[in-house]
Amino acid sequence: MAGCVLAIDQGTTSSRAIVFGDDYQPLSVGQQEFPQHFPKSGWVEHSPTDIWTSTLRVCREAMEKAPSGGADVAAIGITNQRETTLIWDRSTGEPVYNAIVWQDRRTSDFCAQLRADGLEDKFTSKTGLLLDPYFSGTKIAWILDNVDGVRARADRGELVFGTVDTWLIWQLTGGTVHVTDATNAARTLIYNIHKNAWDAELCSLLKIPLNMLPDVKDSADEFGVTEADLFGRSIPILGVAGDQQAATVGQACFKPGMVKSTYGTGCFALMNTGDAPVRSNNRMLTTIAYRLNGKTTYALEGSIFVAGAAVQWLRDGLGIIESAGDTQGLAEQADANQDIFLVPAFVGLGAPHWDADARGAMFGLTRNTGPKEIARAVLQSVGYQTSDLIDAMQADWPDAEKPVLRVDGGMTASDWTMQFLADILGAPVDRPTVAETTALGSAWLAGSKAGVWPGAESFSAQWKLEKRFEPRLDEAERRRLLSGWQDAVRRTRST
Ligand code: G3P
Repeated sequence: MAGCVLAIDQGTTSSRAIVFGDDYQPLSVGQQEFPQHFPKSGWVEHSPTDIWTSTLRVCREAMEKAPSGGADVAAIGITNQRETTLIWDRSTGEPVYNAIVWQDRRTSDFCAQLRADGLEDKFTSKTGLLLDPYFSGTKIAWILDNVDGVRARADRGELVFGTVDTWLIWQLTGGTVHVTDATNAARTLIYNIHKNAWDAELCSLLKIPLNMLPDVKDSADEFGVTEADLFGRSIPILGVAGDQQAATVGQACFKPGMVKSTYGTGCFALMNTGDAPVRSNNRMLTTIAYRLNGKTTYALEGSIFVAGAAVQWLRDGLGIIESAGDTQGLAEQADANQDIFLVPAFVGLGAPHWDADARGAMFGLTRNTGPKEIARAVLQSVGYQTSDLIDAMQADWPDAEKPVLRVDGGMTASDWTMQFLADILGAPVDRPTVAETTALGSAWLAGSKAGVWPGAESFSAQWKLEKRFEPRLDEAERRRLLSGWQDAVRRTRST
């Protein structure tokens, strides 16, 4: 049992590909950023061509750099930015519009109308989600209703819908396969997570023709084989999961009560709740963690839209750092006597507030506030937001003790940020040795399906701690800071 796996991680700001060896270590990496389009305030789009061509390029780069030149890659796993919505022509493959990105808020009024019509409970009870522009369903409806001629073409059965995984599989297989996996389907607002099927009633409420939708497979399954001329031979695609679910797998959170939190563009915490979907009373999402051999494992999810994106803002918007790594150094030198709270609601607030119209704000500024204090406030905002999520999850899952949080993603490289996170949570934070947990999760799905990597138990045993951050903040101080944060969030809300 041995072999390499190519993991494709198609994210919000860059496409990446990693070849993993059979000891689960990355052997080679390809990475490429691609342009973000902001046609109007609150709108975020990607070019479907950029998504595909950047992905193909990084796959080739990672394969070429791998010791064997990619010859021993036995399978491909795909993980992707979730919810991002594409529609294309089923015979020409031509997209009818740009990809509408998960962060896009253009359907906020439509969601408000659906809520006013008393439909939220229907959507939540079937999909585990809320009526928020974040999810694909209202984005599909927007394209059908607003792009010239598209509704008629959809009615004639000429068009197909896909999230990014579906688009990539379509391209990799030369337009022959139209599929997704259960974790990606679970983010669309039209997939019944209890029945594991597209929901005809919800599709009809959003006027989405059922024949546009892809077949839904397990997360480790046969998703087709790549066209031979892309990589010089055909390679089977055997694993697919949305990026947060792939990170849950990569962190080996296979047991109920285990939690991971990933710090990429946004921050997403998922708690495994086993084979029972837990309905949240605290505006968390219920979602599919993974589906293996037809068996669904569920999760509670807290989604925050801005984490690493706030560090990017320090670099590209304010110009006060040159690279993300500079932030920690600034934060360490910040004036300890200034309490600055930055609420990074740049694209509204996600869980647990779900306020699409809120916009960012900063509180507590004095004449002495400068880049150091603002940098610290950005890093702290990530800790505060995570704390809101963990508190809400614990309230939904009262039996669980305060969990140890397994963390991954770019921001976890900062010891300062992870120590603040542990302090404000009042609970330990574990950082594993393998930082590439999202890609690793999709690689494991594919590698185990290919039979070149072992099953979940053996995979869990290889998870290794690199560093545990123990909380060391005095409880009174923790409460004082949290109350300052909550006050700042209240003042940022749109309603
Ligand atoms: O739900 C959106 C999420 O999948 C995006 O992840 O890593 O691009 O922030 P990321």
